[in-house]
Amino acid sequence: MADSRYRESPFLTGHHRPNRMEVDAPDLFIEGELPADLAGVFYRNGAEPLYPPTAEDYHWFDGDGMVYAFFLADGRVSLRNRWVRTGKLLLEMKEGRRLFGVHGNPATTDPLAAGTRYNTANTNIVLHGGKLLALMEGAPPVELDPRTLDTLGEEHYGGVVTTTFGAHPTVDHGTGEMINIGSVARRKGTAPELRYDIIDFEGKLITSETVPVPYQSMLHTFFVTANHVVFPVTPLDVSLRRAISGGPMVAWDPDRPTLLGVMPRRGGASDVRWFEAPPRHMMHQANVWEQDGRLIADVAAAEGTSLFPSLDGTRRPHRETRQSLRRWIIDPAAATDVVREEILNDRDIQFPRPDDRLATTPSRYAFANSNLHSADGRADGMDSVVRVDTADGAEDLYHFGDGAAAGELIFAPRIGGTGELDGYAVTLVHRAGAADTQLAVFDAGDLAAGPLALVHIPFVIPSGFHCNYYSVDSPLYRQALGAS
Ligand SMILES: [Fe+2]
Repeated sequence: MADSRYRESPFLTGHHRPNRMEVDAPDLFIEGELPADLAGVFYRNGAEPLYPPTAEDYHWFDGDGMVYAFFLADGRVSLRNRWVRTGKLLLEMKEGRRLFGVHGNPATTDPLAAGTRYNTANTNIVLHGGKLLALMEGAPPVELDPRTLDTLGEEHYGGVVTTTFGAHPTVDHGTGEMINIGSVARRKGTAPELRYDIIDFEGKLITSETVPVPYQSMLHTFFVTANHVVFPVTPLDVSLRRAISGGPMVAWDPDRPTLLGVMPRRGGASDVRWFEAPPRHMMHQANVWEQDGRLIADVAAAEGTSLFPSLDGTRRPHRETRQSLRRWIIDPAAATDVVREEILNDRDIQFPRPDDRLATTPSRYAFANSNLHSADGRADGMDSVVRVDTADGAEDLYHFGDGAAAGELIFAPRIGGTGELDGYAVTLVHRAGAADTQLAVFDAGDLAAGPLALVHIPFVIPSGFHCNYYSVDSPLYRQALGAS
């Protein structure tokens, strides 16, 4: 069996097992009632390698992007999924096997792949500028047709975005702008630097700045407020040289602080001021905004990570590196450059999300998938979902049962709804031993009451990364998909 090699990784087995197929399912069975005022599209991206890895050291982030689209209307749901046909995947399909090493490491990549970009397009899937974009941080976005999911090709924004483009852009729903970064890279003889881009509502790139940073680190996300951007340089060191000599490309440096570079949103490299926090693993924020002159960032953070080894080759267990919801407070008026940290809620969470419409402005609630009983929720499954009131840390939690694997929980506004909890919360969940996956729809203000509706997908969708929901009455939906 060709897929016996999948068994070598916890991220290729169990709820992570790739299903290796593309489907069109026109009318899924629904348990309960799908609310009539929930109409739109739910997209999810994740890593599903078509071919088994060439070495034993498969990494979760290395699979080919597979996009699922659930179209919700009139109390009914249809599903379509397609691989993102990047140059990498097309070449591997031609050869009938995987060619690239871990993270595209050239030292472990087949010479046949020379000259082909390592683009998995597997991390996020966003609508902006009338286009559906599959994103990973090491390569340009790949445009898909928002209805058919056919791959249309890389988007280079007029020739500016030709190397990297972050997987976590912020779309400011007030201005319509999408703000993003290119990952940190080092040109010969220069300091490491990132690229900072602003793209207007129509999808035209209007600003691109190069910003030097202190270290070459994995910059998975960054923050945007009404007037500022923040570049979090964490202790996740990136070194191609180390990878070529047989070490890990990404490694945790326990002696390095977390540095937060604050820059005006319309500023440039000379405007950056660096603030310092203790060493933290931080890849995702719920929301970030300005209040009383300070920057408030609600993030999922931990004192280390089990996802990557330390510089000395050891790897810390998940129980020591659980991410909790924390508030980082940056005060540009203060005399010191120290970031204050408060723990808002100490549940083990993975992907915190706000009501996306409030991005860059104050919000009160954070939604997340969470883990009550698994030894390691990323490998074994996040068994619950939670909504945290960031004003007092109070939680609204639903446990799917031990062994369940729940994906990112996101807010889905009801048609015409404007309030922060005026809508639903949606996630994909695979329950222990089940032959299916369910799209669970909750009342956003009462997760504890359990799902209002469970949409049954007649096969297992492997756990993935990020998802987004676009209501039919939102400007982003209308721009990309037209009137429904
Ligand atoms: Fe992410």
